[in-house]
Amino acid sequence: MIRTTAAVNIMAILIIATTSVLFGCVNSNRQITERLMVNYSSGTNGELFPCGCRIPLGGLSRRAGIFAQESPYPQCTVDAGSFAGGNTAYDRFVAGWILQAYGMMDYKAVNLGVREASIPVTQLREWDQQTGGILISVNLVDENDLPVTRRSLIREVGGLKIGITGVTSEGPEVAEATELPVVIDPVEPLKEVLAEFDESGVDLVILLADMVDERINNLLSQVSGFDLIVQGRDFTPAPVTHSTVLDDGTRVVKSGDSGKHVGRIRLDFDGNGEIVRDEVILIALDSASPTRSDISVLLTDFRKELQDRRDEFLGDPTNPFERLRSPEMVDVLSGFTGPGMCNSCHLLYGQEMQAVGHSYAWANLGDENSMNPECLKCHTTGYGYPTGMQDPYRDEQLTGVTCESCHGPAAQHVREQYIISKDLDPSAMIPPIDPTGLPFTREVPEAICRGCHTPEWSPNFDYATWVERVKHHAAEEALRNANPETGEADPE
Ligand code: HEC
Ligand code: HEC
Ligand code: HEC
Ligand code: HEC
Repeated sequence: MIRTTAAVNIMAILIIATTSVLFGCVNSNRQITERLMVNYSSGTNGELFPCGCRIPLGGLSRRAGIFAQESPYPQCTVDAGSFAGGNTAYDRFVAGWILQAYGMMDYKAVNLGVREASIPVTQLREWDQQTGGILISVNLVDENDLPVTRRSLIREVGGLKIGITGVTSEGPEVAEATELPVVIDPVEPLKEVLAEFDESGVDLVILLADMVDERINNLLSQVSGFDLIVQGRDFTPAPVTHSTVLDDGTRVVKSGDSGKHVGRIRLDFDGNGEIVRDEVILIALDSASPTRSDISVLLTDFRKELQDRRDEFLGDPTNPFERLRSPEMVDVLSGFTGPGMCNSCHLLYGQEMQAVGHSYAWANLGDENSMNPECLKCHTTGYGYPTGMQDPYRDEQLTGVTCESCHGPAAQHVREQYIISKDLDPSAMIPPIDPTGLPFTREVPEAICRGCHTPEWSPNFDYATWVERVKHHAAEEALRNANPETGEADPE
């Protein structure tokens, strides 16, 4: 199935959805001689446990439970990268446990993704050693231009020789970090790896890519020869449930982020080793998912060790205990916090807000009045309060009439929900810091609206009818109908 690398005209890439139908029909008379199940995950981002608000999804034990289900087909399990949360001591501590679990789940290859690109080379190599060499990357190199880990792996599964390689985009800039891997152009190294696969008589080529669509298309315009691309970096709330087939036959699948979903693609091969058709299932890891007891035990050990070693991560802002105590977070998380914080859990509310003029209230002031204090008090959030909007060009997140204009400063609420959703010890909670003295409420009293909707500025304001236009009816409707199978209307 290795095709010689030929440039694919990017414009000509034809995307055919639901290929099983198409290929199934066209090739239905071809003899199926081999079948393979590829399990895939991506963007775990340091999430060991189910996460989210109303419908917590994900978790490593559930993932393992799904992979361990009886299957008549040989299985190859891979990860597209960004398993780590980042590069703090706490993040690295968590990532070590994630990789330990991956080893137990028999992952055949794990790509180093965007998040790993911000972790020192020595740490990545140490993990690679501890996991018996399952980490791969074609375009992360050390200061001497040497690959950080193996560039590819060849695995034999059920009589098939599978060549697996992986690419990543650049990681975020990390201040003062030393010894980070360098991200190089993947095209030449990929061509070399494909040639090696060709020589070794590989039957199936899998590319693990922690990249957005645009980058992948750009890459495929320069190098081809992949049968299956498992894509990370695509955080759409409802990942696609079918493969996308590019015009050179490459199939692309993705499973979203935070480990909430896992994907399984069954590939059917004919006598010539060509893929005849595929079938994709995307599984939301919810409370109905099976779990695997040895992974659950591992996670209990993780919690115990975290409790014991809490002090080691003091001052580390990503440590869930410390996150809520650290001076930086106290500063950020006091009084008004801005809608970005809210959207991480109430995404649907945020999306609905985009449709209402409130979001654009500051933009609509125009250049002349963008700094006019007389206007800012009604066209931004928390103006005049210590943690509210002060300079619209600096406090961008608080421009416009946002969540907290109506519900009040929500820092304390964010903290509480964070503790609940991460199942944290409430003793980690710091005393409420709310320099505004304003309440946070679910109900929005009429007087709050009228503070801005004055007779002078809003002569036609009619509370009874206008309030219906801001009550998040669409978000609530979507939540009521949330599909527990896929968690598609999941508020995060
Ligand atoms: C970590 C997740 C999380 C974050 C972040 C978060 N919320 Fe919430 N919020 C929740 C959950 C879960 C509930 C439902 C609580 C319940 O039903 O007890 C909720 C409920 C609410 C309510 C209804 C309150 C009530 O008492 O029923 C409002 C209003 C609200 N959130 C606003 C906000 C705003 C504004 C922000 C951002 C500043 C925000 N939330 C950030 C998880 C979160
Ligand atoms: C912080 C000030 C402020 C508060 C509080 C506020 N509004 Fe507004 N509202 C505005 C501004 C400013 C606009 C005009 C936004 C624009 O289009 O630029 C507006 C516009 C609206 C609109 C028209 C939206 C549209 O897209 O046509 C409605 C409806 C509305 N507000 C209802 C309410 C209700 C109901 C409340 C209370 C629950 C409320 N507002 C609270 C400032 C506020
Ligand atoms: C007391 C609160 C308040 C103040 C002060 C205020 N506005 Fe407004 N403004 C509103 C409200 C409320 C609306 C929505 C009116 C409506 O739809 O009934 C609005 C609407 C507007 C709109 C129309 C938005 C649109 O395109 O739909 C503009 C423009 C505007 N204001 C500009 C200003 C400017 C400029 C200033 C400062 C000189 C200012 N406002 C001061 C509350 C205020
Ligand atoms: C213009 C005012 C306004 C803004 C801005 C606003 N809300 Fe609300 N919100 C309301 C009103 C009014 C209600 C209904 C309260 C009631 O039922 O009494 C509400 C209710 C809620 C609830 C409770 C729903 C439930 O089922 O209990 C949540 C959660 C919530 N809002 C979150 C948000 C978030 C998140 C944002 C920002 C993305 C936001 N709100 C922005 C006015 C607002």
